[in-house]
Parts: sequence; structure tokens; C-alpha cells
Amino acid sequence: MQNFKDLVVVISGASSGIGLATGKAFVAEGAQVYNLDLVNSPDADEFHYIPTDITNTNSVNTSIARIDSECQRIDVLVNNAGISFVGTVEETGEDDWKRVFDVNVFGMARLSSAAMPLLRKSKVPNIVNLCSVGALNGLPQRVLYDATKGAILSMTLAMATDHVREGIRINCVSPGTVRTAFVDKMVLKFPDPEKERAALNARQATGRMVTPEEVAGAILYLADPRSASTTGTSLEVDGGMHNLRMRPVQ
Ligand SMILES: NC(=O)c1ccc[n+]([C@@H]2O[C@H](COP(=O)([O-])OP(=O)(O)OC[C@H]3O[C@@H](n4cnc5c(N)ncnc54)[C@H](O)[C@@H]3O)[C@@H](O)[C@H]2O)c1
Repeated sequence: MQNFKDLVVVISGASSGIGLATGKAFVAEGAQVYNLDLVNSPDADEFHYIPTDITNTNSVNTSIARIDSECQRIDVLVNNAGISFVGTVEETGEDDWKRVFDVNVFGMARLSSAAMPLLRKSKVPNIVNLCSVGALNGLPQRVLYDATKGAILSMTLAMATDHVREGIRINCVSPGTVRTAFVDKMVLKFPDPEKERAALNARQATGRMVTPEEVAGAILYLADPRSASTTGTSLEVDGGMHNLRMRPVQ
């Protein structure tokens, strides 16, 4: 059975990592997927690609106008595009704050706002935002990144409240560390990237990083029309990192 048959799914940043795995999972369930990304990828050729920079309002509006002309509605919006930043508060410059907030937080607001009129035309409208365990956990050297994810958690709850009476559900997923290009790039910023990668694996109770497909599964669960009573929630996909308190191995 294809639970998303003919639904229109819009994903920001579906050329790579979690967005790519999520787009593929939606396509396997019969959805039409629109990929709004800065760059395309041969891996993402099952999607309709629209070049989009979510930091640019004109670019976002142009992409949404094209989806309007082709589909006249959006059933699911996955606000996935995001960038990382490593550093303490002293190591994070004002331009870094502006740049990362512009993608992770303001980009999500721009795209959500532009998509709202088309979501209202769906019978099963919902948004899934990419949050992170960093929203509620003090991860080392992630002050800026964690601040953006804290904002996304708050936005998810506030947006869910604002739109519940018009039937638009809004949820987020909070992954632990996921093995994607995003993490591969981030570990290279450490003096010993393999040591950092091992530490990231060990940080999760399961002892390994999350896979993009595991996050995609959680996104599809939240987006599924059968999850009609689930709104304003954060679903952790983090190998137990947020809730489990493990004893060190003796
Ligand atoms: N990888 C992790 O460990 C992890 C953990 C928790 C949350 N997340 C979140 O999941 C999301 C996806 O992460 P990922 O690991 O798959 O990243 P990724 O780097 O593999 O993919 C991100 C995609 O977003 C696109 N993108 C970046 N800036 C953009 C912009 N301005 N406009 C449009 N597209 C843009 C990139 O081109 C890329 O295709 C992010 O929001 C990230 O914060 C990732």
C-alpha cells in the first residue's frame, strides 16, 4: 500500500543526506517530491528539482509559485535544509550568527510562510521541521547550531498552535548525530577527524550514528495522514542520546 500516493511533498535540501533519504522514502510511497536545494544531485533524479536558496525570499517565492502552477497545492512540507557550525561562543563571529540563523531559522520561516496558502489547499496538510538533540542538550562547541535548533523547537510548537484549528499539523524530528555529508564535513574541522567520529558514535547509547533512512522513517510517520492526532511534537531519533542515562562500560 502506498500511503502517500499522489501527495505533493516539498523538501528543502533533498539533494543530500537526510533530505535525500526522505525524498526517496516518499517516492517509494507514491508521492511526487519537489526538491528545493541550492544544488542538484544525480542521486536525486526521481525528484522535481527547483533551484532554491532558502535565504532569499524571491527565490523561495518563485519556487512556490512554480509548485502552485504545477500542482495547486502542497500536502507535506519538510523543512530540512540546514548548515552546521563548530565553535564556542568566543570562536563564533557575528557574521557566523547571521549566516547560520539565516539558513536554519529564517529560511524555515520564509519557506513555511510562502507554502502556507498552498498547504491550506490540501486535505491532509502538515509540516515536518528538522530539529536536533542539540535543541535540548548542551553539545560541546555547538552554541550557534544548538541555538538555531532551540529556535526551531519553539517555532514548531508555536506554529502548531497557530494552525491547528485550520487542520495543519506541524511537528519536528530531533535526530542525534546522523552519518551524512554534513557530519563528514564537520569532523574535518577537528585536529583528529577519526577521533571526533569515534566520539560521535560513542555519544549515542546505541554506540553508532543514526542513518538517514532512520530519520526518513520518522518523518514519514509524522507526515502520514494516519498520524492525524499528532501535532506540536518532537520525535527523537537519536539512539537514546536524549533520554537514556547509560553507565560507562566497565
Ligand atoms: N547530520 C546530522 O547529524 C544531523 C543531526 C540532527 C539534525 N540534522 C539536521 O538535518 C538537516 C539535514 O542535514 P544533513 O545532515 O542531511 O545535511 P546535508 O549537508 O547532507 O544536506 C543539506 C542540504 O541542504 C542544502 N542547503 C544548504 N543551504 C541551503 C540553502 N540556503 N537553500 C537551499 N538548500 C540549502 C544543501 O545543498 C544540502 O543538499 C539539517 O537541518 C540539519 O541541521 C542533521
